Amino acid sequence: MNKEILKATALLNDGKVVAIPTETVYGLAANAFDEKAIEQIFQIKQRPLFNPLIVHIKSIDYLDTIAQQIPPIAQQLANEFWPGALTLILPKKSIIPSIVTAGKDTVGIRMPSHPIALELLNQLDFPLAAPSANPFGYISPTTSEHVKKQLGNKIPMILEGGACAKGIESTIIGFEDNEPILYRVGAISKEAIESFIGKIKVKSKASATPEAPGMLSKHYSPKTKLIVSENIPEYIKNNNVENTGFLLFSNTPDSIPIHNCILVTKNKNLDEAAHNLYASLHELDERKFDLIIAEKFPEYGIGSSLNDRLYRAQETHFDFDYPTELLKINKTIKQ
Ligand code: TXA
Ligand code: MG
Repeated sequence: MNKEILKATALLNDGKVVAIPTETVYGLAANAFDEKAIEQIFQIKQRPLFNPLIVHIKSIDYLDTIAQQIPPIAQQLANEFWPGALTLILPKKSIIPSIVTAGKDTVGIRMPSHPIALELLNQLDFPLAAPSANPFGYISPTTSEHVKKQLGNKIPMILEGGACAKGIESTIIGFEDNEPILYRVGAISKEAIESFIGKIKVKSKASATPEAPGMLSKHYSPKTKLIVSENIPEYIKNNNVENTGFLLFSNTPDSIPIHNCILVTKNKNLDEAAHNLYASLHELDERKFDLIIAEKFPEYGIGSSLNDRLYRAQETHFDFDYPTELLKINKTIKQ
């Protein structure tokens, strides 16, 4: 047994928060049955208490321990896509404390496929509630280095698991009258879901009130202002781009210095682009340009999920003076 996994097991058994690798992004994990442990996640992330967490389980069979009234189609989706990057929103059992679900009677659940996450889950007598391991609103971490830079001084351990293979968050599906609804596009493409269950309704538009789950518009933003462009050559022609960073999909324009550009894939491979997207945004953010111009991805498959994240990042660039407002929100809810 990996010594690091043993250490993480001990910390989690002790009610502590540990950053863990998954195949999508790194998560900030704690015992899903332990309210006190979960409270720390919200504090460390500065996450408003109205935003529920995803619970990570070790096997498909474990689903029945924390969820009930599982629609047959949900069970089929779990059988098809787990372990993997699909989160199912299902009626919760009372064993899940309401702080995990932000008071909702449903809980988000997924069985991750990352071998280290699974090995860890198999050591524990409880599932792990874990949001992405970033400060609220900021870009999700896809390496342990990203977590270390953002939250390193606030958590006792980051379990190393290499760069996340998928690179963007899980796809989220909920059910309304037993009908599946796509709440968040993600690492499993809409097309892949539809080839299995047929046409699916989508409710993932960014909104200020998180009535539809996980859909706060200002998620996934770098600190630098970001704009999505459908025509990079045209943008370069019409603007002064001296202190602009470019996140590129198709190619690197000759007229722009190499330092200003990151090409997320060598041959327009969308999986590779997903794998590199957040790491590239972290990197461009660190280079402190005045502006990041991101090339729009092709609008199909994972490309649509990547565009969703870019447009959310464009919506509001992230302002790090936010905590007082959020803390106020958390206080109100706690009372
Ligand atoms: O890939 C992922 O999903 C990663 C890894 C760590 O598993 N996790 C992740 O968690 O992206 P987070 O918290 O950053 O995003 C999960 C979203 C939240 O925005 C939340 O609103 C939604 O899932 N969610 C969770 N439980 C829900 C529920 N019961 N009802 C509605 N939405 C829910
Ligand atoms: Mg997140």
